[in-house]
Amino acid sequence: MIYLDNNATTRPYPQVLEQMQPFLADAYGNPSSVHRFGQEARQAVEQARYRVANLLHCQPGEVIFTSGGTEADNAAIAGLAAAQPNKKAIITSSVEHSAVREPLARMADCGFNIIEIPVDQKGELDYATLQNALARGDVALAAIMAANNETGVVFDISAVGNLCRNAGVPLHVDAVQMAGKLPIDFAALPVQTLAISAHKFHGPKGVGALVVRRGSRWQSFIRGGPQERDRRGGTENVPGIVGMGAAAELAQHKFQTPAIFTRIATLRNTLETGIINSIAETTINGNTASRIGNTTNIGFAGLEAEAILLLLSQHDVCASAGAACSSGSLEPSHVLRAMKLPDRVAHGSLRFSLSEFTTETEIAETLEILPAIIEQLRKVLPTA
Ligand SMILES: Cc1ncc(COP(=O)(O)O)c(C=O)c1O
Repeated sequence: MIYLDNNATTRPYPQVLEQMQPFLADAYGNPSSVHRFGQEARQAVEQARYRVANLLHCQPGEVIFTSGGTEADNAAIAGLAAAQPNKKAIITSSVEHSAVREPLARMADCGFNIIEIPVDQKGELDYATLQNALARGDVALAAIMAANNETGVVFDISAVGNLCRNAGVPLHVDAVQMAGKLPIDFAALPVQTLAISAHKFHGPKGVGALVVRRGSRWQSFIRGGPQERDRRGGTENVPGIVGMGAAAELAQHKFQTPAIFTRIATLRNTLETGIINSIAETTINGNTASRIGNTTNIGFAGLEAEAILLLLSQHDVCASAGAACSSGSLEPSHVLRAMKLPDRVAHGSLRFSLSEFTTETEIAETLEILPAIIEQLRKVLPTA
C-alpha cells in the first residue's frame, strides 16, 4: 500500500504503541483514585501533559485532554462564547474544518451572527475584511485555523491574533494540521485557545488537547466529574493520553532535525512536478501561498475526484478528495469553492499528504500509476 493520506490520519510511531500498551492492560488504574495503583496512572497522565506542553510551548496547567480535535474545537467555541453572553457575533474563516463549521452552524441556529472571512484564490485570508469585522463591537470570539487540512495553506496566526487582541476579541486556533509539522509557540502567540489532535502526528486516535491560556474567560463544555481541574468531566483516556504524550515528545525531537521536514517537502515537490509535467490540465491548488510541506492539492480538470480515488485505490494508493467527511459526496469541497476555483477543477481535485514514512519509491510508483489513470478517465468521461 502507498499511503498518501496523512492529513486524514498517520501511522502511530512504534514507541507510542509501546508506551500505551501497559495502560491498556495491567496498569488500568483510574487516575482519580487515591490508591497507589491509581496514582501510577495519574503520574503517566501528568507526564503526558508535560510533554504536550513542551511541544506547544505552553504551561502544563493550560493543557486539557479531550477526545480529539473535534471536541477541542467544540469546547473552545462553546466555552469562549459562554463566557461573553452579551456578545452575539462570531468571526471565522470560509475554509475551516467541519469541527469548527458545524458547531458554528449550531450557534447560528441559536441566534449567533456568524461572519465568514473570505480567502483569495491562493487560499490566503483577507486580513482587511477581518479587521473590519473585528471592529463591530459585538464579537464574542474568532475561530480561525492555523493550517488548512485540504490545501496545507498556513495562515499567519500571529497577525490574526494581533488584530483580535487589538479589538479585544479572544481567538481560538484550530492547529490540528500544524502540530508536529511546524513549531508552535503558544506562549508567544496572541491566542486564547488552541486545539490539537494526536492521530495527526503519529499518536493514537480519539485523543486531543485544548490549550486554554491561563486567566482566559472560558467556561467548561463537558460537565461531569472534577477531572482536568474541573474543565473537562469524564475519566481520562489514560492509554490515549500516554500515547499522545509519547507522540508529542517524538514530534518535538524531530524539530531538531530539519532534514526530516525538508525531505518530506522535497518528496511532495517531486510528486507535484511529476504530475504537472506528465498530465495535461492539472493545477496545484494553493501552491503560491505558504504551505505545510507535506500537503498538495491537485486539480485534474474535467474529472470527478471520486473516480480518480477509486482507481488509485485499486492500485493500492491512498489519497483523498479533501476533507474525509466530504468524500462520498459529489459536492466540491467548501475550501476549494471559497478559493473560487472553477467547478471543473474543484470537482477533480485530490489531496495527497505525505509523512516521514513516505518513501522515494512510493512517490515514483504513484507517478507511474497516475498518468494512465487520468488518461483512462479522460477517455471515458465527458469533460465538463
Ligand atoms: C483542521 C482539522 N481540525 C479538526 C479535525 C478533527 O480532529 P479529530 O479527528 O481528532 O476529531 C481535523 C481532522 O481531520 C482537522 O483536519
